[in-house]
Amino acid sequence: VVARKWRTATDVVAFELEPAVGQLPTCQPGAHIDIELPNGLRRQYSLTNGPGQLDRYIIAVKLEPDSRGGSLCLHQDVNEGDVLAISPPRNNFPLRRDALRTVLIAGGIGVTPLLSMAQAMAANSLDFELHYFVRSVGHAAFGDVLDRLAESVQAHSGLSAEQTGDEIDRILGPYVETNHVYICGPGPMLDAARSRAADAGWPDAAVHFEYFSNTNEVDDGSSFELALARSALTLKVNAGETILQVLRRSGIAVDSSCEQGACGSCVVGVVEGEPDHQDVYLTETERAADDRLVTCVSRSVSDRLVLDV
Ligand code: FES
Repeated sequence: VVARKWRTATDVVAFELEPAVGQLPTCQPGAHIDIELPNGLRRQYSLTNGPGQLDRYIIAVKLEPDSRGGSLCLHQDVNEGDVLAISPPRNNFPLRRDALRTVLIAGGIGVTPLLSMAQAMAANSLDFELHYFVRSVGHAAFGDVLDRLAESVQAHSGLSAEQTGDEIDRILGPYVETNHVYICGPGPMLDAARSRAADAGWPDAAVHFEYFSNTNEVDDGSSFELALARSALTLKVNAGETILQVLRRSGIAVDSSCEQGACGSCVVGVVEGEPDHQDVYLTETERAADDRLVTCVSRSVSDRLVLDV
């Protein structure tokens, strides 16, 4: 049930969701939920919950100018008292708690999962820095939470893309072992931050990221054989259909959420063959290892792919 809806920043509305009955499943920092919208769309939103907030989920939604109907629906049509169907939280962006230095870099609405991480770290007296890049001060969401974390938060307002990149270079510095960085924001900023981290010697394993969506054009023109090692099945994936669809049609249950290669919910292991990754979830190292793929957009370079399914 939408218990509260309020404007938390320019173009950003926040929602508190309470259970209609019973209790909500617990959630970890970095987790997201799927929401079934009244217009039939399903969208993913990160939880901004701090530790101990077990009675509600808190999300924020930015009104996207090129909204395909998700953010517009939540902004205009969903109001306090409305009932929404949601999934349990999934966490494909987990926080490590063994780092000597934890850097959180947020761009715009990408602050939401990082806010949850920041509150968890603060509650456990763990050191972290939250760098929040916004177009203007008015675009910074959840000012009350940021105020409580003020000594670990630095806002960077009104910077150009180049200035943002330079600032990220300064923030990251050269890689030091046991340092970890978590980045969430618009695709171009995330791409730039990842490449700057790589240039500064940060290994993939220390750079954690979450894209809002996969803006790559997915090429689904190939067809290939799909063998399932554990199910002893051989299937065909034709052009225009996804591995995920073919698996489900054969009665294999595979979890999914975004179904566009961004969230990682549908990852399965690869036993043999060369995947054609087209997602934005896997790191370069994971991609090169070719030992897993996301079933919603990945295909096969080889004629045959054997999955650990
Ligand atoms: S469902 Fe999100 S990556 Fe496949």
